[in-house]
Amino acid sequence: MIYFIDLEDLKVGMYVILPRSWFRHPFLKNRFLITSEGQIETLSGIGLREIEVDSAKSQLVEEVESISHPAILHPPQKWEPEKLISDDLREVVYDTTVEPQEKAQVVYHHSIQLMQKVWDSPTRENIKDGKKGISHVVDLILHDDETSLCMLNIVSHDFYTYTHSVNVGVLSVMLSKELFRGTDDHDLHELGAGFFLHDLGKLKIDPNIINKPGRLDNREQEIMRSHPYQGFKVLRETDHLSDEVKTIIFQHHEREDGTGYPRRLKGDEIHVYGRICCIADVFDALTAERSYKRKLSPFQALKIMKEEMLGHFHEDMFKTFVLLFN
Ligand SMILES: [Fe+2]
Ligand SMILES: [Fe+2]
Repeated sequence: MIYFIDLEDLKVGMYVILPRSWFRHPFLKNRFLITSEGQIETLSGIGLREIEVDSAKSQLVEEVESISHPAILHPPQKWEPEKLISDDLREVVYDTTVEPQEKAQVVYHHSIQLMQKVWDSPTRENIKDGKKGISHVVDLILHDDETSLCMLNIVSHDFYTYTHSVNVGVLSVMLSKELFRGTDDHDLHELGAGFFLHDLGKLKIDPNIINKPGRLDNREQEIMRSHPYQGFKVLRETDHLSDEVKTIIFQHHEREDGTGYPRRLKGDEIHVYGRICCIADVFDALTAERSYKRKLSPFQALKIMKEEMLGHFHEDMFKTFVLLFN
């Protein structure tokens, strides 16, 4: 039986039918089972007030009293309430029937959810699911040029930390793909985890400092600058990712000319993976819209990086990065 309910009555386990074409919402399909609270939040965010539910396909584990329409509820069935986001990502990445533009949007959206999940609770399981999901995105970037170029064009500045993580992840893997073309000495799936999670340490920093508009005072700056080490510590405690990943997180604010932090490393003292992440990180920070600064176009950002910040980057790597946009 199909009936309408208010969106606020929507529950995990209900099978929903979306009225809109999928271009206007971030889900892969118009009909699907709700498996997490996050999906309900996303549906609330797209402006729906009522939603169609198919009770025959729903898998509710408890009776829903607030539904005013008659509903035939099925007895509890075995189902996974916490479907892994990496599974959703895999489904999208390898679906050959979806157009690149659409695929890029869904992959991007799922990647942000994935970041959100790791940030909310950086447990071993979530980091493991995160790495799996990132690995699917890395596959997409390596094997599907058209879709990954579409991802470059997606601009979304809500949830800055998550979008920033995904942007830096995508840009860094793309740069690595160019730099390491023709060799298989580098495990881009492992590195991808480091690039996407490079700012994980920020979860240990007071949000008032992270979100403060304008300049940080000296004390705040010192706290903020501890995030590479904090991220390194989180990963060391959860003991799941490799040393390369930890190096990316620890070194992404080091600068070629020795003006970075936390160690003020110079030139070759900085690992090639740290240098890659640094370029992508600065580029995304310049092109992002924030409450306290206007956003630059990619062209303007690259120009500033070249003319005013070149000492910060490995020159040849920066040149390769610029070529990504040509
Ligand atoms: Fe950072
Ligand atoms: Fe960053």
